[in-house]
Amino acid sequence: MSRELVKIFDTTLRDGEQVPGCKLETKKKIEIAERLDELGVDIIEAGFPISSPGDYKSVEEISKVVKNSSVCGLSRAVKKDIEVAASALKKAKKPRIHTGIGTSDSHIKYKFNSDRKSISERAVNAVKYAKKFVDDVEFYAEDAGRTDNDFLAKICEKVINAGATVLNIPDTTGYCLPNQYAKKIEYLINNVTNIDKAIISCHCHNDLGLATANSIQGVISGARQIECTINGIGERAGNTSLEEVVMVMRQHSELGYDTKINSKLLYSTSRMVSEIMGMPVQPNKAIVGTNAFSHSSGIHQDGVIKNRETYEIIDPNDVGVNESSIVLTARSGRAAIAYRSKKIGFDLSKIELDRVYQVFLKFADMNKEVKDQDLPEIIKQALI
Ligand code: KIV
Ligand code: ZN
Repeated sequence: MSRELVKIFDTTLRDGEQVPGCKLETKKKIEIAERLDELGVDIIEAGFPISSPGDYKSVEEISKVVKNSSVCGLSRAVKKDIEVAASALKKAKKPRIHTGIGTSDSHIKYKFNSDRKSISERAVNAVKYAKKFVDDVEFYAEDAGRTDNDFLAKICEKVINAGATVLNIPDTTGYCLPNQYAKKIEYLINNVTNIDKAIISCHCHNDLGLATANSIQGVISGARQIECTINGIGERAGNTSLEEVVMVMRQHSELGYDTKINSKLLYSTSRMVSEIMGMPVQPNKAIVGTNAFSHSSGIHQDGVIKNRETYEIIDPNDVGVNESSIVLTARSGRAAIAYRSKKIGFDLSKIELDRVYQVFLKFADMNKEVKDQDLPEIIKQALI
């Protein structure tokens, strides 16, 4: 069965870079952009050009070097922002302007001291204005997660008429439950009369740890673009993690979706972004954490040594990790000790293994992890 392609919109260099401490100079942003292009992302959100001269330069330089992906610049629904974004994107092969405004009652009242009618007008004017510079205009309805569905549908219909090609429905505060986010997307599919002229994009934040689930539910409900970042970095608890949504779709072929991402580059890209941004990846992070393919309890190790699939749903090679690791701790069993000893040249008989195991346990109880370099001494002590 051929699978439908979902577009991957990477915002590591915009929403991800907003994280305190993650700000990057142009040279580093270019390095990451080139890697994202190679990874196969459809759209790279390169920055927010009006925000600073440095970010303008980054978007401008990234536009010159990116070969395949669309390059996108963020703007508010403000003429000057749009002009500056358009100017920074001038050299891009496939430029996209991402413009929008807060649509929830909370944003309308407290951020803008405005009303729904005026916000709709600003949204439409912004899209019309951006359209003067580029064909590809994405509209974001900030805080769509908490926006009244009926108002959201009306504003979406208007911005599509004004020329928007993509409708970004951000769960800006990470508030929605997966079924609520799914219903919102379904509502738009069923109530925006010109919805066939645009694609819906999921932009979910991870405040409740639901960003990946919400994005996937959004796709199941009809969205065809996901906005995400490498390692899930982003404002507060972060954005949807690129590697997670890509692998969810790849592993669950029954859903019928896939992406153009070269998953074999996921691990190295994760490490590259982590190093350049100085943001460590938590060891238990899905797909790219150090422990994502390590096994340390005896029962799991025994299973994985017999057949990897007993405890792994992803082949580590598919995401660029060389092999699963069998980590020796006080919870390990004989199978793991025999396996690691053999790897470093000790082929232990059953009787030898029993003796080594007893010495191993004493050593392991005093240490967090037993390394390969500790094994020869343990084996020597046990077998003299
Ligand atoms: O989370 C959000 O709403 C955003 C928009 C600016 C797209 O990042
Ligand atoms: Zn965001």
